[in-house]
Amino acid sequence: MLDIYGYHIQHGLGPFDLEPLHPDELKRRRKAMLKRRLPHLVADLDGTVVGYAYAAPFRKRPAYRYTVEHSIYVHKDFRGMGIGRRLLPALIAALEQTKTRQMIAVVDSSNIPSRRLHEACGFIEAGVLRSVGFKFGRWTDSVFLQRPVGAADGRLPDDHLGGTVPAGE
Ligand SMILES: CC(C)(COP(=O)(O)OP(=O)(O)OC[C@H]1O[C@@H](n2cnc3c(N)ncnc32)[C@H](O)[C@@H]1OP(=O)(O)O)[C@@H](O)C(=O)NCCC(=O)NCCS
Repeated sequence: MLDIYGYHIQHGLGPFDLEPLHPDELKRRRKAMLKRRLPHLVADLDGTVVGYAYAAPFRKRPAYRYTVEHSIYVHKDFRGMGIGRRLLPALIAALEQTKTRQMIAVVDSSNIPSRRLHEACGFIEAGVLRSVGFKFGRWTDSVFLQRPVGAADGRLPDDHLGGTVPAGE
């Protein structure tokens, strides 16, 4: 996973990190997500990790607790072979077993493979933030892509304690 991510940090606009990740930091992130019972999946090809995808809270404030932001990375030598197309639906399916109701992807506007992948998996463009990133000597735009999960906003969360919905609704 470190190798996959390290390559994309240095060569692509996918990651928003700029420096290679320390192994301990990757371990810490993975542990933190699993502790929150959020999926952290790898694509395994004959015992080699050729891609991974995981979900993290969209934002820290508690009102966002049913919304996740995910990341997906495929090894440079295995791109365009349909791995993303299997990994992302697997992540969505795993999230359907959690309390998640919305997924958000933040994708660099020039990242056509990622935008295609997300659209193929039911994500819809929700907005563009202009010039919010700076990488490889230029300002970059971020596209927000959103996909409902499970019951989405069709019903209240299972762990909703009640009392806040106005009468008649
Ligand atoms: C984006 C990424 C995860 C896609 O995974 P992948 O395994 O290469 O993609 P797949 O082969 O499963 O193809 C998925 C879709 O993207 C399209 N696609 C893949 N590579 C493409 C390319 N170079 N140009 C245009 N479309 C492309 C495919 O046509 C496919 O769409 P379809 O199902 O409608 O035919 C992968 O390329 C990657 O890791 N890129 C670098 C890191 C990154 O940008 N991560 C995402 C950060 S938001």
